[in-house]
Amino acid sequence: MTNRVRKAVFPVAGLGTRFLPATKASPKEMMPVVDKPLIQYAVEEAIAAGVTDMIFVTGRTKRAIEDHFDKAYELESELALRNKTEMLSFVQNMLPKQLNCIYIRQPEALGLGHAILCARPVVGDEPFAVLLADDLLDGRPPVMKQMAGVYDYYHCSIIGVLDVPRSETGSYGIVRASPVAEHLERIEAIMEKPAPEQAPSTLGVVGRYILTPSIFRHLERVTPGSGGEIQLTDGIASMLREEQVLAYRYRGIRYDCGSKLGYLRATVELGRRHPEVGDDFTDYLKNLTLPEQT
Ligand code: G1P
Repeated sequence: MTNRVRKAVFPVAGLGTRFLPATKASPKEMMPVVDKPLIQYAVEEAIAAGVTDMIFVTGRTKRAIEDHFDKAYELESELALRNKTEMLSFVQNMLPKQLNCIYIRQPEALGLGHAILCARPVVGDEPFAVLLADDLLDGRPPVMKQMAGVYDYYHCSIIGVLDVPRSETGSYGIVRASPVAEHLERIEAIMEKPAPEQAPSTLGVVGRYILTPSIFRHLERVTPGSGGEIQLTDGIASMLREEQVLAYRYRGIRYDCGSKLGYLRATVELGRRHPEVGDDFTDYLKNLTLPEQT
């Protein structure tokens, strides 16, 4: 088994019902924050962590993701024809050349754990990263790179976590853990979306994982859990009985782009820092006076 994280799985088969009608015919992962789709932020984070194989677990209506990471012949020849050389080189060099993009279909939306299991034939017997694109994480260094550093040292599964308000435990995987080192805790228990009164703590899982391949064995045996779905959290709970799993309090800001408010926050905050429009947008926000509601 190789000891480097070279592969990342992006489960992108979800329906995106919270953003209907925007997501009726196009994937939620293609929604842009300023000028880049959510999925590209996640892919760039994986690249920064040294990942070379991007494995997308897709579903119906997700073709735009495949097109986004392919060569765009028509666009490129059109830009060349119009002498838009700068834009052309931007489109051509969006991602490093030695990247492999691999697409697997999840035939039915049976849950996050099931989506990860669909990637098994491509991941094989290697540790791998999982990134949920609707959690946009802004960290320096990028959060998955921080986590790969932790993996290089501990060689066990690592899960990104943050403190959440008790009233919101029902939206997250929640872990009970005890401290190991700065930013790092050993997970003793994990539950998917417990009600506030049942939550073992308020330490919530964000959409970043590094998993050892033994997770597949556990996921195979998982039965439908929260929401009637095969949950990754339940696979991790089973794995905990056999091997160490660490919770990592990453350094960075999380934008929950699975919710409208989080998505708007990401747009405003990343917009303010955007190299091209950031200054003007910041001025605009400073001088913003909202018209009276009628
Ligand atoms: C998934 C996971 C959950 C995790 C969350 C982070 O839930 O099942 O454990 O806390 O992502 O965003 P989802 O938000 O996809 O329902």
